[in-house]
Amino acid sequence: MAFPAAWLDELLSRNEIVSVVSSYVDLKPKGRRLWACCPLHGEKTPSFSVSPDKQVFYCFGCHAGGSVIQFIMAMERLTYGEAVRHLAERAGMEMPKETDDRELQLMRAHKNRLYEATRAAARYYFECFTDPTLGKPGRDYAAQRGLTAEIVKRFGLGYAPDSWDGLMNRLTKQGFTKKELLDAGLLVHNEDKNSDYDAYRGRMIYPIIGVNGQVLGFGARVLDDSKPKYINTGDTPIYNKRNNLYGLYLHKNEKLADLIMVEGYMDVIGLYKAGVTNAVASLGTALTQQQARLLRRYVETVYIAYDGDAAGQNATVRGLDILKGEGLEVRVITFPDDLDPDEYVQLYGKSGFDRLKENAQTLNEFKVRTYANGLNLSDENDRERFAMRACAFVASLQPIEQGRYYKLIADMTGYAVEALEAQGTRSGGMIVNDAPTRRGVFRRRNDAPDEARTVTERTLLAACLIDPAATAYARREHADELIETEPFKALLVALYRDPKLQLAQYIAELDQAAAETVSTLLRDDGAVQNGLRTAEDCIRKLRAERGQEQLSALQKRLSEPNLSAEERMELLQKIQQQIKAKR
Ligand code: UTP
Ligand code: MN
Repeated sequence: MAFPAAWLDELLSRNEIVSVVSSYVDLKPKGRRLWACCPLHGEKTPSFSVSPDKQVFYCFGCHAGGSVIQFIMAMERLTYGEAVRHLAERAGMEMPKETDDRELQLMRAHKNRLYEATRAAARYYFECFTDPTLGKPGRDYAAQRGLTAEIVKRFGLGYAPDSWDGLMNRLTKQGFTKKELLDAGLLVHNEDKNSDYDAYRGRMIYPIIGVNGQVLGFGARVLDDSKPKYINTGDTPIYNKRNNLYGLYLHKNEKLADLIMVEGYMDVIGLYKAGVTNAVASLGTALTQQQARLLRRYVETVYIAYDGDAAGQNATVRGLDILKGEGLEVRVITFPDDLDPDEYVQLYGKSGFDRLKENAQTLNEFKVRTYANGLNLSDENDRERFAMRACAFVASLQPIEQGRYYKLIADMTGYAVEALEAQGTRSGGMIVNDAPTRRGVFRRRNDAPDEARTVTERTLLAACLIDPAATAYARREHADELIETEPFKALLVALYRDPKLQLAQYIAELDQAAAETVSTLLRDDGAVQNGLRTAEDCIRKLRAERGQEQLSALQKRLSEPNLSAEERMELLQKIQQQIKAKR
């Protein structure tokens, strides 16, 4: 629901956040802000803060945050519209008619077109799949992988025939423009020939469906062993892989005991077919905070069931900390023999999977074991190295938790528990770690260690908020393209348009997840001194990181087997260019 900007501004100014919050808790001034024990998650020491300058609140404990509207939504458990009405009544204001903000409406209309296009595409791929001749390769593949008609229907699977323009012809005939199809990621533009062609050809199609039932994008798998195995819709106005989980929409209105996190499309589907219907996939990427928050709306416990070869990789461990940081209980299922969940249930069935689940490791046990990765515990030196690292980790845990993990290390190495405890004490528990507790509507969440990149992005935004010169600089440098956190990116673009933008008014119109993310700007409120210089620093850092990512991607491709000599040459040249650009 959208309200006229001027009316909303007045609503905010007549509902000064300090006075509204003060009718729920006693605020005490400290520094530039006012503080209280958080009324949303229950605590003994104040971590809830309100910034009178910015008219925004943020809780360092449960990470709730936003304008006065989001505060009322959380406090009174109201929808956005209800909270606005509540505040209008409080201020004695009439409710306005629906807005006619043109830009907003155009954007919405465009997005709706894209949703229609992706839906029409899904229908087309399904029809191709069932077409007696066109669909034969897809059906053969489905049969070979045990994808029954029922499963195909349940997951909306389809087949993209091996054609450059099958989808393009069908959807333009239905009235979609090429621009719409390009924006939705359904077509690809060829610069050299200045022409467009179907993005997915000769592949099995897995629609990615959002929790509201809309088709957001697609995964497309080759039918043989060629590479890349999957291609996926990139970022579009309606899809961002960091914000979604494959398969979650199936559980929209369900009460679930727990969810199982897997890596791939076929893991969700294979488990489902075996009767394990509560799996969702991160689609091969490291888990993000947005995904963790999405999970938290559904369940309290998440089982990680990554492929045998992936468990223990750093990205996995980081993903687990993010989940824990959001207050979720995390268990880890590991598979033998490098099997993935799909392969495992095919061999051992639901009962085999359930047994693994019952014996899932706690997060800490899993972490202790990952310290042994790459080491050979029958070698004395490696055994010592493992024990030292693992003890330092265990020493960072809550005292009552420590015993069982020292015992585990003792079992793994043969060292005496006393020696291991002494080792841990000596290390001083270098790793910070405190157990999350839960109370009330909002759970206290640990400060999951922010990714360095997130901190840089946040600092850049803070700089732009205090200094229009920083914003102008960011705009010239196209800094928005370097930002990965969607709500930050959107805020920066909004600042380009209006460098004097008022944060609270901006936040007031965001949905809850975006409002929370933007409110994290209050974390280092006041820390930025020189806006322009800070912006320069941050942009340099983000650019360096982007360059590094591109470099790693190129290097990874270089290690692929079956590269032709020309391909190798081309990759090496690109790598050299990247390295030069970095200097
Ligand atoms: P996997 O390689 O484990 O594939 O990648 P899978 O899920 O077992 O698929 P099948 O059984 O071979 O069909 C896990 C996930 O990583 C992403 C996909 O989301 C995939 O499901 N991925 C993998 C890609 O996006 N591109 C690729 O080329 C490979
Ligand atoms: Mn698989």
